Amino acid sequence: MAKSKSKLVCRECGYETVKWMGKCPSCLTFDSFDEELLIVAKKSSPVLKIVPTSLQNIEENSKKRMIMNLAELDRVLGGGLVKGSMVLVGGDPGIGKSTLLLQVCQTIDQQLSVFYVSGEESLAQIGIRAKRLKIESTSLLLANETNLERVCLHIEINKPSIAIVDSIQTMYSEELTSVPGSANQLRHATLRLMQVAKKIGTAIFLIGHVTKEGSIAGPKILEHMVDTVLYFEGDKSSSFRILRAVKNRFGSTNEIGVFEMADHGLIEVSNPSLRLLSGRNNDSIGSCVMPTLEGTRPIMIEIQALVCATAFGMPRRMATGVDNKRVTMLLAILEKVLGYKIYNCDAYINIAGGIKITETACDLAILAAIASSFTNQPINHKVVIIGETGLTGEVRAVSYINQRINEAERLGFTKAIVPLANELDAKAASSKMTIIPVDNIKKALKMIL
Ligand code: TYD
Ligand code: MG
Repeated sequence: MAKSKSKLVCRECGYETVKWMGKCPSCLTFDSFDEELLIVAKKSSPVLKIVPTSLQNIEENSKKRMIMNLAELDRVLGGGLVKGSMVLVGGDPGIGKSTLLLQVCQTIDQQLSVFYVSGEESLAQIGIRAKRLKIESTSLLLANETNLERVCLHIEINKPSIAIVDSIQTMYSEELTSVPGSANQLRHATLRLMQVAKKIGTAIFLIGHVTKEGSIAGPKILEHMVDTVLYFEGDKSSSFRILRAVKNRFGSTNEIGVFEMADHGLIEVSNPSLRLLSGRNNDSIGSCVMPTLEGTRPIMIEIQALVCATAFGMPRRMATGVDNKRVTMLLAILEKVLGYKIYNCDAYINIAGGIKITETACDLAILAAIASSFTNQPINHKVVIIGETGLTGEVRAVSYINQRINEAERLGFTKAIVPLANELDAKAASSKMTIIPVDNIKKALKMIL
């Protein structure tokens, strides 16, 4: 008689083992193993069901895109949603994933049918939200369901143009013994839904909550299976939200969509720079503007710094929206290269609007904001500062200088401090702006303070 076989699978990372372990050797999580029964497939001889076809005979998928009529979302998807594709929308709980996809039900062409399956909220709760979002779509079908087999059956019977599964973590299959949300359940549910999507041509949006580590639970295990992975990010304290493509089989991953969470749902922000600079005071001390790149899209951000004498023995350094270690390094450069006595000062850095920046092209602007606060001198509000800073105080070249300069010019800035190595490209990008090339931070600060 054949033995029933089982394996243990880590619910966080999908690591598999046959021996019980208290701690996963892959992701180092304690007590994370679930037992799974192995399903042994029956052996069968292969039958040729699929006839190979030539490239010319393949219908062009890109022609069959469904337009969401939300320009920011369409852009991130690469020009609309491809029929039969699977899109994973990840993000922190409460960031607005369900709101975004419920709004899609209203904005899309009303000839397209949508099936919204929620495993998280009751139909009454969705009804209240839909009322708040003023959704009156007649082609929208809703169901409160967590059983994967029944969800697949619903999709196969109703054949909607778009199905929204909120969230993939709540779906469970009776074929598996593991609990909902475990790595095995997630993988199985995604695979089953993928088969349904490809079979009947329904495009599926999967909503996925992000774990503490910042990846979709369990980490990364779904990303390789789906066609497109979008992350919905933002600071909970700010209303600004960014939709970012991290994988897209049908478009570029360099696109972002910008939204703002308001009382009646998400509003598209087609001019994020203007929105981010709207509350800015002219010529204020410790404030500096720079065009940062989000994907290929330049966005003007305001960097603010506050440097003041420390009240206690240990100076505090706090950075919001920018890496703390990078700020500590820039403070050290200011001390060493320019002789600023910052060692007995508290320093606070903030990016206005709850935006997060990771690129080093912001170094010089952060330095300038700190220097402005430290010396109590304002920076002219019509100046932008772009450049990466090295440890010896040199200013290094940045990428896409022309896009950055164009955006600054569009928003009415008149002067740009740029790295010497970018001088020619910057001058070619704008005839109206005064371009000041600099090769070290001393020169840069002399030009603005
Ligand atoms: P939600 O879409 O439920 O988040 P997720 O599905 O990602 O978990 O968004 C919930 C948050 O959005 C909640 O904190 C309230 C806020 N919100 C608004 O500010 N305005 C609105 O119109 C709606 C519907 C939600
Ligand atoms: Mg939700």
